[in-house]
Order: sequence, then C-alpha cells, then structure tokens
Amino acid sequence: MNSQEPTTAAVDSTRPADAPAQPDPDADTDAIDLPPRWAELDADHPAPSDTAPADAPDAHTAQASVDSASAAPADTPSAEAQPDDANGVEADIQPGPPVLPKLERLPRPQEPRRIALINQKGGVGKTTTTVNLGAALAASGLRVLMIDLDPQAHLTLSLGIDPDDLDLSVYELLTETGVSAGEVVRMVEGSPNLGVLPAVTNLAGVESELSEMVATGLAQTILRNKTNDLVRQFDYVLLDCPPSLGLLTINGLTAAQEIIVPMQAHFLALQGMGKLFETINMIRQGINPSLTVAGVVLCMHEANTILASDVVADVEGFFESARGTALPWANAEVYPPPIRRNIKLAEAPSFGQSVLTYAPDSNGAKDYARLARSVAKAAV
Ligand SMILES: Nc1ncnc2c1ncn2[C@@H]1O[C@H](COP(=O)(O)OP(=O)(O)OP(=O)(O)O)[C@@H](O)[C@H]1O
Ligand SMILES: [Mg+2]
Repeated sequence: MNSQEPTTAAVDSTRPADAPAQPDPDADTDAIDLPPRWAELDADHPAPSDTAPADAPDAHTAQASVDSASAAPADTPSAEAQPDDANGVEADIQPGPPVLPKLERLPRPQEPRRIALINQKGGVGKTTTTVNLGAALAASGLRVLMIDLDPQAHLTLSLGIDPDDLDLSVYELLTETGVSAGEVVRMVEGSPNLGVLPAVTNLAGVESELSEMVATGLAQTILRNKTNDLVRQFDYVLLDCPPSLGLLTINGLTAAQEIIVPMQAHFLALQGMGKLFETINMIRQGINPSLTVAGVVLCMHEANTILASDVVADVEGFFESARGTALPWANAEVYPPPIRRNIKLAEAPSFGQSVLTYAPDSNGAKDYARLARSVAKAAV
C-alpha cells in the first residue's frame, strides 16, 4: 500500500457501511436494490442499437470532454482538501467520492457481455485491465459489473474496498448455498453504474472446500448459476481471474462467454499460452460451448523493442492461422491500442481508484478509454 492515505474508499451504497448483512428470509434474495441513478442512466443513454454520433470525437480527444469540475488534476489524487486561497487555511469542505469523467458514449450490447480476463502468468496486467477497462466502459455510460476471483483481492483493493470490512464476498457466494449475488454486490461510490462482487483472501480455500463437488461438475458452475440473475442488470461483466488455471479460473471460464488475455510482450510471454488455450478449448468442448477468445490486450507495452514486435507478430500469426476453423480463437484479435507503461496506472490502486478518476489526462487513462472503444465495437 502507498504510504499516503487513500483519499477515499468505495462504500457499499446498497446498505450502511457498518450494517451487517441481514438478509430478510422472506425477501427475494436475488432482488437488488440498485441506486436511483440507474433510471437516469437509462434515460440519457442510447438504446442498444444506438451508436455515438458521427461527429463524436476520437477517444484521445474525448478526454477533453471530461467534466473538469469532477476530475482530478493529473498528478494529484482527486479528493484531497484544497487550501482556501482567501485565508490560507484548509477549506472546511468534505471531499466527495471521485466521480468518473464522462467519455464518448458507447453502444450498449443487446445482451450482457461476460468477459473473463485470464492469463495464468502473474503480474501481466489482468487486474489493471479489469479495473480500468471497466471504469472506461462505465465512463462511457455502460453498466459494468466486476467480479474478483483472485484470493489476492487486488481488484477489490484497487476499487478502494478493504476486504477486512466485508460481511459477504465471492467466498461466501461460492461456498454458502443461501448467499446470493444480489447480497454480495456493492456499487462503487461516485460511479453508480459500476458494481463489484469483491473478494477476500479466504477465497483461496474454495479449491479444497468445493473439491468434493468437482466430480459432478457442480463446483465448476457455481459462479455461473449464482450470477445469472445479477448479470442481466449490467451491460458488461468483467471477471478478474487469479494467475492459475485452478477451480476459481474454471468458474470464471464457465461464467464467461468471452475471454480477453492481457499479455506483456516480453521474453517468455508466450510460455504457458499453449496450456491456457488448451484449457479454454476443453471448457468449450464441455461445460461452456459458447466460450470464445475475443482477443489479447498488450499491457505495459514498449513498442520500440524488437522483442515486443516479434511477440505481437507471433500472437497475430497464431490467431490468423485459426481463421475459419471451429477453434475458440478463430475470430480473436490483438486489440488496439497497446497499453503503454504508465506510472499513473501503478499509482491509482493505492488510492482505491481507477486511473480514469485518479489521473484522467494521463496516457494510462487515454489508452484504456481507447481500449474500451475497441472492445465495445468488436463483434461478439
Ligand atoms: N501499463 C502499466 N504501466 C505501469 N504499471 C502497470 C501497468 N499495468 C500494470 N502495471 C502494474 O504492474 C503490476 C502488475 O499488474 P496487475 O496486478 O494488473 O497484474 P495481474 O496480471 O493482475 O497480476 P496477478 O497475476 O498477480 O493477478 C501492478 O503493480 C500494476 O500496477
Ligand atoms: Mg491480478
């Protein structure tokens, strides 16, 4: 954790922060008390077939449309108390939560798109891409649910949620029959169209706790079964998977319909890819026949190196050779743009924020805004 205090923490807007989860046994457990702004969002967002106006700015210039009143300056966390110019003392203004800037609106899919971000290699940018692609889609007016499937709980922490404060998490969702996704979901403060199913470190125990249910196939499908109702309330569902191909990742691959592979184009980048694609193929032939690989996102990219160009060419060649086949990656692409290495992307999680609120003018924010456009416009 950064030594500076995070300026804000996302809180559960569906119930008071200090209130324990007390599900009403008579209530419909899947009913979700979504904030009133959902209705507003529906009103000012285009219908599924609507697209952005023809004269809409490019996402690079779309940053200019960021509401500067709500956005933080590039190099300062957004909600810090500012000195009062008139008398030189700190103004007695309670900072509000960081508010997502408004980006060019993106088309709403007819059906929720469920995308798992997977790579069993560690530290390649899965969580960073989940948080910031999710925030960019939400900033474009879409309703986004993020699911933290990693016992490291980095996605949860990156959104300003302390796993120790949670009454319910993905752990209880997967291991307790009576817990529904509607009870576990939290809306991110300041981003009313951004929801999260958070994780705790206990999640690591899921593998052994569910081991007896693996033979029947139930252990692999719990997440899909339990989130079916909730995901209908969203346009995009992004599942942040751990760096392994264990039961949690299998649950992610079963609940998803598409896969994005975040990858760092460096030495050994493709090592382990065979095993990953083999696993994807196996899931498609069994539990989840509609699973496809949508594409690769290049993270922490250094475009000028020969090695990076070679790796990108290898990945593109691999996808090209599958065109016209029944393989899950037959229509996959390397999404533009590559995400450049940018310090703001590494700093933002310490403040419990996406880069979209932490440093809206940074290259990191611009790259993820453009990536959101590529992903939203790609054919499913
Ligand atoms: N484009 C970038 N520029 C600079 N730093 C980055 C960038 N992308 C990711 N990072 C940093 O690299 C580290 C690894 O990223 P991240 O946590 O997203 O990877 P991961 O694949 O989710 O890791 P794990 O496998 O442990 O879950 C983090 O410290 C993150 O802040
Ligand atoms: Mg991660």
